[in-house]
Amino acid sequence: MPTAEANPALETARLTLRPARLGDADGLFALYSDPRVVRYWAWPAWTSIEQAHDYITRMAPKPDSLPLVAARRVEGDVVGTVSLYQINAQNRRAELGYALRQALWGQGYASEMVGAVLAHAFDALGLHRIEADIDPRNDASARLLERMGFLREGYLRERWIVNGEVQDTGLYGLLVQDWRARQA
Ligand SMILES: CC(C)(COP(=O)(O)OP(=O)(O)OC[C@H]1O[C@@H](n2cnc3c(N)ncnc32)[C@H](O)[C@@H]1OP(=O)(O)O)[C@@H](O)C(=O)NCCC(=O)NCCS
Repeated sequence: MPTAEANPALETARLTLRPARLGDADGLFALYSDPRVVRYWAWPAWTSIEQAHDYITRMAPKPDSLPLVAARRVEGDVVGTVSLYQINAQNRRAELGYALRQALWGQGYASEMVGAVLAHAFDALGLHRIEADIDPRNDASARLLERMGFLREGYLRERWIVNGEVQDTGLYGLLVQDWRARQA
């Protein structure tokens, strides 16, 4: 479904959401090398800029994934990532992931980028359901999802092992009709 051509940059009040570029390596490294950002993430903190280069190479939009970098429109700096992945055309569903630079937490940037991607997913891509898999201890992430209208639909035990730590999953879901009702 998504291709770079089919998915021009998404603009919000303060952010541009677009595919990763080579010049984003330093910004992405700053994001994913921060232990506070990856505390509940599916991989450990990056330790080498090579991991940013590798990420940029791998993270081109594909039929089943739309990984985007969030850059501030005025400052131009990379502040986060927001992605749809496991896009399933038959069932019109996808999974959602997001991360924001710690210095910018608590200012609504994550709500802005996630809101824009949800609108794109439902309105432009025609998806029916979006899912998010988060560590149940990740309060900021749970608050963000609930702010967007997601419901917690499940609790899956010991689903991840990151850096030797076994982690549970809180599974959240948002349906297109619930999203539309909230926009009305
Ligand atoms: C999850 C994460 C993106 C949430 O970031 P955040 O800064 O809390 O979310 P927002 O940018 O939407 O900001 C919301 C907060 O800012 C406040 N805020 C200030 N201005 C705001 C505005 N204009 N709009 C919305 N909220 C605003 C809200 O009241 C809210 O505060 P609260 O959480 O105390 O209720 C962030 O904690 C993060 O990057 N964590 C690490 C990565 C991660 O765990 N990702 C999830 C795994 S999939």
